[in-house]
Amino acid sequence: MTELRTPRLLLRQWRESDLDPFVALNADSEAMRHFPAVLTREQTVRAVKQAHSRIEENGWGLWAVEVSGDGRFIGFVGLAAPEFDAHFTPAVEVGWRLARDRWGNGYATEGARAAVAYGFEELGLAEIVSFTTVANGRSRRVMERLGMTHDEADDFDHPSVPPGPLQRHVLYRLPRTGSPRDPGSSPPASRA
Ligand SMILES: CC(C)(COP(=O)(O)OP(=O)(O)OC[C@H]1O[C@@H](n2cnc3c(N)ncnc32)[C@H](O)[C@@H]1OP(=O)(O)O)[C@@H](O)C(=O)NCCC(=O)NCCS
Repeated sequence: MTELRTPRLLLRQWRESDLDPFVALNADSEAMRHFPAVLTREQTVRAVKQAHSRIEENGWGLWAVEVSGDGRFIGFVGLAAPEFDAHFTPAVEVGWRLARDRWGNGYATEGARAAVAYGFEELGLAEIVSFTTVANGRSRRVMERLGMTHDEADDFDHPSVPPGPLQRHVLYRLPRTGSPRDPGSSPPASRA
């Protein structure tokens, strides 16, 4: 099972002690502003179980993140395969959600760089995508810092989001470049 280390972070499998801080993060209306609703404890329990199983089955996924040497859970960063159909699926996305008191430190970008490198170098992906609501400027800035690019022609209505201001999503793409591996590999068969 893969753990990723960056200069400041450890991306690792989920632990039971992550649950309470993740419940608090998912109940924070500011952190969840670009989602249709905050999550209940039960929904968070389900999300942790799913993330845990994906990492166990595939060796990669949406990893729990802690600051190295601290041990405290600060959120998640990682790779997942969207489970809905859209013009860009099947695909592998890079995603993130951090506790609000950890924003503004570069942690999401740092963790995501490691996840993207893993996706290209270890999984052999040809492309990694990311998407969010049009108004989620913080998340879009992470995508831009990763070198991802946005084409308005890729924008889409998220099929799991009810009609309204949150439904329209921007899609960012990052092709693999300069990798010695074979170009054009498909996303891995094991879907997250
Ligand atoms: C999206 C989210 C992870 C972005 O968090 P963030 O803190 O803005 O992003 P980073 O961790 O990459 O930090 C970057 C910021 O830290 C600053 N920073 C401070 N110290 C830094 C350092 N040592 N290294 C790098 N950046 C640093 C950067 O200047 C940047 O600030 P700016 O955007 O104001 O210029 C966070 O807002 C979040 O969890 N939101 C809720 C969930 C969500 O919307 N997820 C995405 C849904 S698709």
